Amino acid sequence: MRIPKPQVEIVATGRYLPERVLTNFDLEQMVDTTDEWIRERTGIRERRIAEPEMLTAEMGKRAACQAMERAGIHPGEVDVLIVATATPDRWLPATACDMQALLGATNAAAFDVQAACTGFLYALVVAEGYLVAGRGEIALVVSTEKMSAITDWSDRSTCVLFGDGAGAAVLRRANDFRGILSSYLRSDGRLGDLLYRPAGGTKIPLNHHVLDEKEHLLRMEGREVFKAAVRSMAEAADIALQRAGLRAGDVDLLIPHQANVRIIEATAKYAGIPSEKVYVNVDRYGNMSSATLPIALDEALERGRIRMGSNVLLVGFGAGFTWGSMVLRW
Ligand code: UT7
Repeated sequence: MRIPKPQVEIVATGRYLPERVLTNFDLEQMVDTTDEWIRERTGIRERRIAEPEMLTAEMGKRAACQAMERAGIHPGEVDVLIVATATPDRWLPATACDMQALLGATNAAAFDVQAACTGFLYALVVAEGYLVAGRGEIALVVSTEKMSAITDWSDRSTCVLFGDGAGAAVLRRANDFRGILSSYLRSDGRLGDLLYRPAGGTKIPLNHHVLDEKEHLLRMEGREVFKAAVRSMAEAADIALQRAGLRAGDVDLLIPHQANVRIIEATAKYAGIPSEKVYVNVDRYGNMSSATLPIALDEALERGRIRMGSNVLLVGFGAGFTWGSMVLRW
């Protein structure tokens, strides 16, 4: 099959991680759990937690500034700012608009994308379409998540899993072989109640009962999510590779959503990609929802795991359910 010519490339990436580290041993003091259980079932050792006053928009701004500096662009040159987040600072306006003000990206159209943990891939695909349609030259895509703010810290089945962080990417029209070779996005809204926040929106507005029952915080049927995540990410990996005209053996680095090391290993196995070609940082950061992929991409670049000409496969899965994938030629 012919390899498609990329129309849009990622020029540079950036990340921000809060300084505060919460270890499994810290969690042992908070809920009925053990370091051993968390490591064996999830692969997580520690995660970063933002200070209470830290804003989702501010974390995103810090990642975005690093990406823009590396790309050699000023905030005023950004034509579109797309923020993927499941943890907005407020319902209105969009976190992207708050971030736009913090950045001084005054010439941009700014809006949020909500696709939970798959948000970075959804935002990249929207940005790609925006640029290909000729609506602008430079897109800034930011995934920023303050998962600690929607975590029920008394629920041991979820509170051990999540962390905070932000990642960013600067995109522009491609003019050679580098860039987005293919992508694939899917969702299945029938499975929404397996990973969700029951209340706090317009359906069940915040009230004393909601707060007492912690219905405004995240709930999850872990086992069901686990099975769907492996199935969907394996499918997504396969389809993005087919669309890029590549085979598993052509992949130089697989960057899967970092929710659980067992999900990552199973996805890689189904996709036929050996473990030395799989990027893993879930042990250090836990699941940072949509921010996991850009943070892992940024780290992989910094650590030399991606070089000029590398084929990089991104695969994600999250609430909705949503899932997707993308092949990048670096
Ligand atoms: O971004 C996408 C979002 N999330 C995910 O992808 C997460 C997907 N799911 C998972 O990663 C796994 O399902 C979990 C890590 C959440 C749970 O692992 P599991 O192997 O599916 O365990 P389980 O839920 O079946 O629970 C097994 C046992 C239960 O006890 P009993 O009923 O067997 O007595 C739980 O109560 O483990 C217990 N348990 C814990 N024990 C110690 C649950 N959480 C904990 C804990 N510490 N933190």
